[in-house]
Amino acid sequence: MAVSLRPILPEDFPALYALDQACFVPGIAWSKAELQYFLKYPGNIGVVAEDEARHIAGFAIAGKQLRKGAVLGRLITIDVEAALRRRGVGHMLFEETEKQLREAGATAVLLEVAIDNATAQAFYTRHGFVRTGRIPGYYMGRIDALAMEKQL
Ligand SMILES: CC(C)(COP(=O)(O)OP(=O)(O)OC[C@H]1O[C@@H](n2cnc3c(N)ncnc32)[C@H](O)[C@@H]1OP(=O)(O)O)[C@@H](O)C(=O)NCCC(=O)NCCS
Repeated sequence: MAVSLRPILPEDFPALYALDQACFVPGIAWSKAELQYFLKYPGNIGVVAEDEARHIAGFAIAGKQLRKGAVLGRLITIDVEAALRRRGVGHMLFEETEKQLREAGATAVLLEVAIDNATAQAFYTRHGFVRTGRIPGYYMGRIDALAMEKQL
């Protein structure tokens, strides 16, 4: 499968929403309003991975924030279609997102990941993230999140 990357376009919304719903249980998956908000928020980064047939295999969204005067990236999500995992699509999406965050002056990337999402934790550890904390009840008031961070 040859995968290429491009910016997210407004017309991608239905496919991205469906993919996010398939990737996460209700309560962790973004609502339509949340996803629209992240996609439209000024300065956010959105990258799509698609195959030769222009089928969307995955996407990533990241934002930026300030901490003590430093620009930080915040990874909002990386979603890869279940049937297409472990083929490097997530890696491509993260590399491109990280590159764009660096270009925007970010000195680190932050994220939260559910305590029971071992796959994503392995993925982020593989990409240089370290655990910086645990947030009780972050998801739906009952599933803890790990806070993870990577210096750029
Ligand atoms: C996490 C996710 C984005 C990874 O996407 P992917 O395309 O499968 O990842 P890659 O193929 O690029 O994997 C890169 C590396 O991450 C690690 N990794 C990925 N999946 C893993 C798994 N199931 N178990 C252990 N390590 C894993 C490995 O080191 C892998 O390298 P390798 O295949 O050479 O061993 C994907 O599993 C996904 O969409 N999950 C559901 C949504 C989600 O949880 N997103 C994170 C939100 S916080």
